[in-house]
Amino acid sequence: MSLFAMFKSAGPTGFGYGSTAEQVTEGLSLAGQTILVTGCNSGIGQEACRVLALRGALVLATARTKEKAAASCATFPGKAIGYACELSKPSSVRKCVAAVKEDGHRLDAIICNAGIMMLPKLEKSHGYELQFFTNHIGHFMLVTGLLDQLKDEGRVVMLSSEGHRQAPIGGIVFENLSGDKGYRPLTAYGQSKMANLLFAKELQRRFAGTRKTAYAVHPGVVATNLARNLGPVLSWVLAATGPFFLKSVGEGAATEIFAAVNAKALPLAGSYLSDSNVKKPRADAEDAALATRLWAESEEIVKAL
Ligand SMILES: NC(=O)c1ccc[n+]([C@@H]2O[C@H](COP(=O)([O-])OP(=O)(O)OC[C@H]3O[C@@H](n4cnc5c(N)ncnc54)[C@H](OP(=O)(O)O)[C@@H]3O)[C@@H](O)[C@H]2O)c1
Repeated sequence: MSLFAMFKSAGPTGFGYGSTAEQVTEGLSLAGQTILVTGCNSGIGQEACRVLALRGALVLATARTKEKAAASCATFPGKAIGYACELSKPSSVRKCVAAVKEDGHRLDAIICNAGIMMLPKLEKSHGYELQFFTNHIGHFMLVTGLLDQLKDEGRVVMLSSEGHRQAPIGGIVFENLSGDKGYRPLTAYGQSKMANLLFAKELQRRFAGTRKTAYAVHPGVVATNLARNLGPVLSWVLAATGPFFLKSVGEGAATEIFAAVNAKALPLAGSYLSDSNVKKPRADAEDAALATRLWAESEEIVKAL
């Protein structure tokens, strides 16, 4: 348990800052459930896969390459199948969608966990800033491609972040998705995480009249490979102080797992969750027109890829 967890109380769901992925699934059997998780080979996603497999789910675990995914699957304490899904490469995402369909999987949940943060210099894929493309467009393609595979009560969980509060004024600057008109690492990360949040909100609106649900999640601050771009000093400080001041990976994986499988999440559908409870996001994350526009623009981007 992280040090901070000792001073934080549980929220209305009965879970809180210090709850772990194992605790939010305690007593649950996920036998018969199939759950896809992106970013299975590191950090929070790796822990999420481990706990889902431990509880009996069949985990479809994706990584940039099939080899990476298979190596992780071999470490999970249950059933897991590895798929390649390089989110910055549309051909890879399309192949992943096709492979999951060909293998005949029906999904209880999709957890869009993979992500990159604060690339020091502007990098692009297909002309779009790489954090926006990887964190949002890659997952947009994956989820919309797999919607037909989602079971009637299927859930979609988007890893957002408190970093969404660093998004530019207006939330998403559609006129600068390339980053050419200005690039700041944290603002670009914030925009991508704002996009993850808006996508979950729009998906929940599109699920109206069905029993499918969508959630956006802040996992908490956890010392993982995500910090690799923060520079050696800050990365070292995070790694050294993490065990005392930050969440453990077990605590970090809790909220996404809570959203994906715990019945207590169902009444919270469409919400932004942190510490397995509802948290109010930045105001523009709740702007329905912005979310609808992002969906439409994302469709246009994907059509042209
Ligand atoms: N850690 C935190 O404090 C924190 C806070 C807020 C939000 N989050 C969010 O939580 C999620 C998980 O982060 P983490 O801390 O567990 O980070 P992590 O340890 O760096 O794991 C990120 C995962 O995403 C994968 N990934 C990155 N780029 C990819 C791409 N182009 N295609 C496919 N997979 C890709 C990585 O694969 P490789 O190993 O091959 O790069 C890795 O498996 C992220 O969405 C992050 O934004 C984390």
